[in-house]
Amino acid sequence: MRITFCCTDTKPEPWLQGLQAGLPKADISLWHSGDPPADYAVVWAPPQALFDQQPQLKAALNIGAGVDALLALQVPATTKLVRLDDAGMSVQMAEYVCHALIRHTREFDVFESNALAGTWTRRKPLARSDFPVGILGLGVLGARVAQAVAQFEFPVLGWSRSPKNIPGVQCLSGAQELDGFLAKTRVLVNLLPLTPETENILNRRTLSQLQRGAYLINVARGRHLVEDDLLALLETGHMAGAMLDVFRTEPLPAGHPFWTHPRITVTPHTSARTLRSESIAQIVGKIQALERGEPVAGVVDLARGY
Ligand code: NAP
Ligand code: GLV
Repeated sequence: MRITFCCTDTKPEPWLQGLQAGLPKADISLWHSGDPPADYAVVWAPPQALFDQQPQLKAALNIGAGVDALLALQVPATTKLVRLDDAGMSVQMAEYVCHALIRHTREFDVFESNALAGTWTRRKPLARSDFPVGILGLGVLGARVAQAVAQFEFPVLGWSRSPKNIPGVQCLSGAQELDGFLAKTRVLVNLLPLTPETENILNRRTLSQLQRGAYLINVARGRHLVEDDLLALLETGHMAGAMLDVFRTEPLPAGHPFWTHPRITVTPHTSARTLRSESIAQIVGKIQALERGEPVAGVVDLARGY
């Protein structure tokens, strides 16, 4: 069995060593144009040339959860696309979102600036019941985040394409229930995949439907958010602030207004990192299962786009 590794922005050696340790009989190497045919590719944002030159690939295993970069390419119909299925990401995402939520609702951002000014000022506690949290996307990551937030006794709502039943979470679904979901939400967390249906979903119309003093936590993709609409709604006071991990252009360009906005916190696409050993173990297990002709989790449904 031959496996080619083609991941941009990733140091290849530790991945090649880890994959080789898990699949000792396989011939595993870094992809180069003109390589002989491989059975599987391990990928992150590969060039179109990989699929043009390797039409026989049985599967391309993505070392991330989001497959928007892969779906922008022409992939042969016979090549399965397989995404990472958690592999240690959901607990990181739960940490990030709970941090952002609690930093905002306990006003730790205010205390940080007060401390810098040497000011001792206590503030009246805010009620959790005044900060219903709405999570867009109740998949592998969104469901875990919803449960983590519910542990802190915030009211929690979730929205997905198909109906869900998650204890402690008011689950809504489908386009017809989006407006009702937004109207009941004050802290909006985005964990949708980027698809033609979800691109620009965070816009003036949807964000305006949130409760006044809304807070946005975008941890999915930058292209979900219409950036100028967020800036305009921060200006009017409808939105109180945002913590943003993903951007239309990454790295966020120097001089972008988000860098210096007093009510926006920027992090560098780091809310749920690919953890190498967990991911290698999952990919090795999936390749072994595919070789045995067994089904694997995380196969991308091309019609849905995720
Ligand atoms: P997932 O398991 O595929 O879950 C996606 C969820 O979104 C599902 O609940 C799905 O509904 C829902 N959904 C999709 N399209 C919808 C639509 N048109 N209307 C309503 N709901 C819709 O994905 P995941 O593993 O949770 O990951 C979500 C995204 O997080 C990834 O695609 C990626 O972009 C992002 N991500 C970001 C980072 C980071 O570091 N910032 C890290 C990892 C992932 P159904 O359940 O009904 O299918
Ligand atoms: C990261 O953004 C991922 O999709 O895994």
